[in-house]
Amino acid sequence: MSGARIIGYGSALPDKVLTNDDLSQMVDTSDEWITERTGIRERRIGGTTAGLATEAASEAMKRAGVSPADVDLIILATTSADRQVPATASTVQEALGARCGAFDLNAACSGFVYGLVAAHGFISQGMERIVVIGSETLSKLVDWTDRSTCILFADGAGAVVVERTDGPDSLLGWHLDSDGTAEDLLYAERDGYIIMAGKEVFRRAVLVMEHAARRAMDRAGVTADDLDVVVPHQANTRIIEVSCRRLGIPIDKAVSVLHYTGNTSSASIPLALVDALEHDRISDGDLVLLVGFGAGMTSASAVLRWGAG
Ligand code: ACO
Repeated sequence: MSGARIIGYGSALPDKVLTNDDLSQMVDTSDEWITERTGIRERRIGGTTAGLATEAASEAMKRAGVSPADVDLIILATTSADRQVPATASTVQEALGARCGAFDLNAACSGFVYGLVAAHGFISQGMERIVVIGSETLSKLVDWTDRSTCILFADGAGAVVVERTDGPDSLLGWHLDSDGTAEDLLYAERDGYIIMAGKEVFRRAVLVMEHAARRAMDRAGVTADDLDVVVPHQANTRIIEVSCRRLGIPIDKAVSVLHYTGNTSSASIPLALVDALEHDRISDGDLVLLVGFGAGMTSASAVLRWGAG
């Protein structure tokens, strides 16, 4: 028997805090409106996608006791690569001092879960250790005069180290999807700003979150009652609440960090996962559902048996 499991985790947030009150000095909005409609109270802005990714990955590798020479592959999920070419993953590789495969992956806010599922696939093909990172500097893609988007998006990174194990695989079920017919609901042209049809994204997000979660649970052979912790994409508290209600999952099982991170796209699920681990909300043997959606519209989910192997 052979599988893979997460053996280390880390995160990074820029130092600069931008509060809702700060935003109300920049555009016609208020702390009350943003908090009520989104659940976001403040967010972090600054740094580079590679810099934040390197910080998060270093912490994950340190926790795992893994040196750069032990890493076979770096998968960096991002929608905000620092350069058009080369991949930001190569910058991160150099900064970490690793010599291995490295590539960027763009599946918008679903990217980290896409990367995690891909890592399990690479390990089944013989790799030993893979660093999966979600890192974003969305502040450079935001029009700071557009109140409908600038209140939402922010910067940060989260990372995990996935290692081969002779025991059972921790990934029990997963689902990846993309519906390109909805691409115009949320996009940024090259060198352009994020344009979003917020209400329609909200409506569809709730549906795809439920669908993706159910597909992964079906494949894993588990039900919502079996779940111990849910780590959803951190876009909007109301989307998390409605999705959990539709799935029959008590809201207190859902991890939420968006009140202090905002929406960090690919980084949002690993940031929430790391927050849950640092607060001892996840123990060995727990059943954990990761579920996200994003531009594309993509969706991705994974059911993990924590610590398996
Ligand atoms: N402050 C004050 N008022 C505002 C603001 C603001 N920042 N933004 C919009 N408004 C106004 C609108 O102009 C509108 O006014 P009107 O009624 O006079 O026309 C009113 O508030 C309501 O606007 P709606 O857009 O209908 O507000 P809604 O309740 O839908 O909330 C929001 C908007 C928060 C964007 C919500 O639609 C949402 O969260 N959608 C999903 C967004 C999302 O998840 N995006 C990311 C997905 S994928 C990814 O992460 C890349």
